[in-house]
Amino acid sequence: MACPARAEDVDLFGPGCQEHWYQAYPLMHADSPVQVLRGEGVNPGEDAFVLTCFEDIERVVKDPERFTPVMSLRVTELQQALDNGLQPPADTSRFDIALDSVRTLRPTLALWRAHRQELTDPWVGPGAKRHAKMITEVADELIDHWIQRDDGDGMGSVEFVGEFGRPLPQIVMASVLGFPREDVPQLAAWGSAQVMQYVYGSGHLNLLSPEESERQSQKLAGFAEYLSDQVATKRASPGDDMISALTQIEYAALGRKLSDDEIYGIIYFMVLGGLETTQYALEQEAQLVCDRPEVFAAIRSDRSKIRAFTEEAMRLRAPTQGLSTRVTTREEVFQGVTVPAGSILHIRFGAGNVDPRQYECPYELDLERKALGNHLTFSQGPRTCPGAGISRIEQVIAWQRLSQRLDSLEFAPDNRFAHQPGIMLGTLELHLRFGRAR
Ligand code: HEM
Repeated sequence: MACPARAEDVDLFGPGCQEHWYQAYPLMHADSPVQVLRGEGVNPGEDAFVLTCFEDIERVVKDPERFTPVMSLRVTELQQALDNGLQPPADTSRFDIALDSVRTLRPTLALWRAHRQELTDPWVGPGAKRHAKMITEVADELIDHWIQRDDGDGMGSVEFVGEFGRPLPQIVMASVLGFPREDVPQLAAWGSAQVMQYVYGSGHLNLLSPEESERQSQKLAGFAEYLSDQVATKRASPGDDMISALTQIEYAALGRKLSDDEIYGIIYFMVLGGLETTQYALEQEAQLVCDRPEVFAAIRSDRSKIRAFTEEAMRLRAPTQGLSTRVTTREEVFQGVTVPAGSILHIRFGAGNVDPRQYECPYELDLERKALGNHLTFSQGPRTCPGAGISRIEQVIAWQRLSQRLDSLEFAPDNRFAHQPGIMLGTLELHLRFGRAR
């Protein structure tokens, strides 16, 4: 796809569009901050709407009563089907089991809050601090594998995604959940099968073709059985991990223990959300550091700046660029564009994060920027990403260890920089050269 020259040329979802997203956003902010996708609504004849302004996205995500999350609509449909005596199909897909756990565990906003506070916060939210030592060890172990390489000129080479950015969140999440370390490659394969929709799905709805869905089911074979074995083992003999805790908890919000399927649903979303997102954040951060050696020098000389660096990096290069996950409950007007009730909104976090109405010099990485964490990368409001805590800690520790052990990082000559397809921002490999710190 060619780089767009005018707002009306912008296509955020066609093949190859990923290469030009950041050329498209300034055009859209200037001339077409709400893009209408004609005929691409959920029902025939309806339109979909792409929101690119910070204020619009913030308004939408902070008000789930007025802008219904698509997940809530699916849960309501499922509940109505069950109330009418319809049984879920016998070959219920893994996603449907996970959806059913949303139906029983968090059908209302109050239960969403309780779910976060009691079930996920202690492990992947604010409580993720407890994993700092483990994350540091994993980061160091990965760096140990390549730090001694020497290309003959005193510098070494590393394929940063495969040898650091991808395995770090995989090993960390396996450890948090309580899966054996030797199962990480299999878990990683199931994790990538789960996110296939966001990588290979087409259009703003990330739809997989029937063949791709079939391929996804094949790749997920064994996952449900594996989880059910793990849950049974941990129920009988709990360890110090998230799944064990979920098997034992007397969940105050519902006044009972969690069922196996409910635990399965929680783990499903942890694996879906917890692996590739952080991988892309780390990979884009490495690119930003190579593009701006002064930033690496700044965080090396003052490690208290690392948090500012990772927040700015996530603002500038949001791993989840956008999601079509909200529906209007009444007619709305965004930037002068009227959006009928019942319309699907594509909330474009990546664009909102570089909206010039919100940020001065939005495309600059500014370690002194005010309100650094106030970006849209994890969304905001009551449905904000529950795994933001652990992802932030992983990124900060990763850069603490990298900046401690390396004194330089630069692009190797053999990079294609081609982005992967889909809605996530990232390259599948990144070849770097590094100098070891003395
Ligand atoms: C840089 C890393 C990450 C990014 C950019 C990211 C982004 C997001 C975004 C944009 C949402 C949608 C929120 C909304 O609808 O308002 C979300 C939801 C979610 N994320 Fe994350 N996330 C990241 C890391 C993680 C991690 C590490 C976990 C798990 C440990 C996780 C688990 C989830 C879950 C469970 C949801 C809610 C899904 C649902 O039930 O609707 N995410 N995330």
